[in-house]
Amino acid sequence: METPTILYGIIGYPLAQTMSPMLHNWGFEQAKVPGVYMKWSTPPEKLADFFKAARTLPIQGGSITIPHKVPAMQHLDKVTERAKKVGAVNAFYWDGDLLCGENTDVTGFMGPLKGKSFKKALVLGAGGACRAVLTALKELNIPEIYISNRTESKAADLAKDFGIKQCPWADRAKVGADLVVNATSQGMKGDHINDTAFPKEGFAGGKGLAYDIVYNPVKTRFMKEAEEAGWQTQGGLSMFVGQAVEAFRLWTDGKELPEAGATELVKKALGI
Ligand code: ATR
Repeated sequence: METPTILYGIIGYPLAQTMSPMLHNWGFEQAKVPGVYMKWSTPPEKLADFFKAARTLPIQGGSITIPHKVPAMQHLDKVTERAKKVGAVNAFYWDGDLLCGENTDVTGFMGPLKGKSFKKALVLGAGGACRAVLTALKELNIPEIYISNRTESKAADLAKDFGIKQCPWADRAKVGADLVVNATSQGMKGDHINDTAFPKEGFAGGKGLAYDIVYNPVKTRFMKEAEEAGWQTQGGLSMFVGQAVEAFRLWTDGKELPEAGATELVKKALGI
């Protein structure tokens, strides 16, 4: 193997299991980019030093994960309008001499919605992932957007921030949305795999798309119940791969991380 000359990596703390190194190193091989993608465990007190180092070492870009998605913004020269709306960055890259921050979860989430139109969207949840989802739905100009969360105060904050409506948690099945997004952790592999954040009565008599941002398992209870009621479904795997594809583009001047191959790699790594 030739010695790589360009560095990429992920910063986070603690750096838990991440599929990003596997995906991007594979992508660099495919696209013949002479780079290597590393795991850079970075405690919060070293974050400023990290971004100083990024300006001297041949670091062309990277991913940003918990707990740095918000604090990283103040160490960058520029943050895109989109990332500002989300209020968090998950990728950094160079734009000329400027070290920039972007939130590629927005593009990742929007991918499967391209070319579709919706009248009323309902988003379940109010955690970190929700802000990227809401930014995307606003960009798509969906006329009516509702948010509902078990802890109502968190939904109220987001509703205010994004200029959307809040639906009481008890009434979420009655919204009559044609796009329902699960952005809660219900249905994820683990203790909550058999749970759903949306009562299935909410699908009855309607028609639309049930979009779960959970990607493991590939088909959640939320999706199964939607399907049984005649709805279309979308899982979270393409959002996960899509955010990586968009970051790869930013780092490599528009080169493509092959989506189908990347999806297969992720599935294999997850054993799904
Ligand atoms: P992330 O940052 O990945 O979105 P998070 O911040 O932990 O993760 O958010 C998890 C979301 O799932 C929250 O909206 C949470 O609701 P609360 O704000 O009320 O905690 C939601 N969630 C988790 N367990 C839930 C459950 N049993 N029923 C309903 N919602 C749940």
